[in-house]
Amino acid sequence: MIILGIETSCDETGIALIEAKGGLSRPKFRVIENLVSSQIKIHAPFGGVVPNLAKREHIKNLPMLLNKLSKAGFLKIKNEKSKMKNVSIDLITVTVGPGLEPALWTGINFAKNLAEKYKKLLIGANHLEGHLYSFLLPQKSHKFPTKADPPRAEKVKSHTSIFPAIALIVSGGHTILLHMESFSKWKKLGETVDDAAGEAFDKVARLLGLPYPGGPEIEKIAKTGNSNAIHFPRPMMRDKSYNFSFSGLKTSVLYYIKNNPEAKKTDIAASFQKAALDVLVYKAMVATREYGAKTILVSGGVAANNMLRNIVKQEAEKHKLNFFVPEKRYNLDNAAMIAASGYFAFLRKKKYALSAKGDLKI
Ligand code: KG4
Ligand code: ZN
Repeated sequence: MIILGIETSCDETGIALIEAKGGLSRPKFRVIENLVSSQIKIHAPFGGVVPNLAKREHIKNLPMLLNKLSKAGFLKIKNEKSKMKNVSIDLITVTVGPGLEPALWTGINFAKNLAEKYKKLLIGANHLEGHLYSFLLPQKSHKFPTKADPPRAEKVKSHTSIFPAIALIVSGGHTILLHMESFSKWKKLGETVDDAAGEAFDKVARLLGLPYPGGPEIEKIAKTGNSNAIHFPRPMMRDKSYNFSFSGLKTSVLYYIKNNPEAKKTDIAASFQKAALDVLVYKAMVATREYGAKTILVSGGVAANNMLRNIVKQEAEKHKLNFFVPEKRYNLDNAAMIAASGYFAFLRKKKYALSAKGDLKI
């Protein structure tokens, strides 16, 4: 199947075209085109995403990206001569939630018009399922670009070789731990009770006077800091649940900065990063033991963090688990993962309503 994916849930406008095959037991994807237009520069002065600005930018960017795609010869209008390389879209899929509703609506309306114009089937996609499946998107090179890069997902031969799996989705809006029995069956074990992990990175970055988004900035300056310099709390780490909490950690950083104005930013960033990642990895590893998992999956924006990738990789090696994490560009919001989740939604006959649902659950 050739699937066109559209993503506008937050501050990245994405349009992607992928080829999907293999069904629910041996899914395989090829990314034909993955276009992302980032709005980071527009929102950065506000220290976070402004919903109406995001909406305005999506409205501007969507036709631009689609145009790029048609220029590459990938869109065929009925009876129109095209330089298409045997590509004809079978399915259009668009993020319906979770996310910012004004932003989601722009994608949904755009997708509806497109589906009508090209007479294609349109189905809704869940953004979180997009992150969840993103590890299946093929990796760019056959060599690992950095030490932090784990084995490639192409090694996934069939679902019996990787399930049960524990999946950790860590983004700017969510921190979720899942127990997966297959590509279509899972149970949520826990999630954050307050801030998401990425949100904590963003808020702490702001306290340190670093620009938005804060995750990459914290990671950058943490490299020259000492992660043992300050002992920040690891909230809920050892409680019995699989829930997370990050707002107390952020508050401790706030008080630490107030009480220690001379402290090095690099040490604060490194110590905060270590505390946040420790909790994520600890809980995920406890879950792998409790559920006898063969695999650990990590996805979402925070999974772009090299330290997180490294710690999980080491833990996975120690406990003889498979570890899959997407290539970095598929950690951040993109439409290729939405197209992939559309393939699964199609196979699972999962019909999300074609209207924005800001708090859609996984
Ligand atoms: O998945 P994503 O692009 O958007 C959401 O669905 O939320 O995630 C964005 C989040 C932001 O909070 C950003 O600060 C965080 O991911 N992030 C990182 C890193 N890169 C992005 N957090 C920690 N380390 C990073 N390298
Ligand atoms: Zn996301």
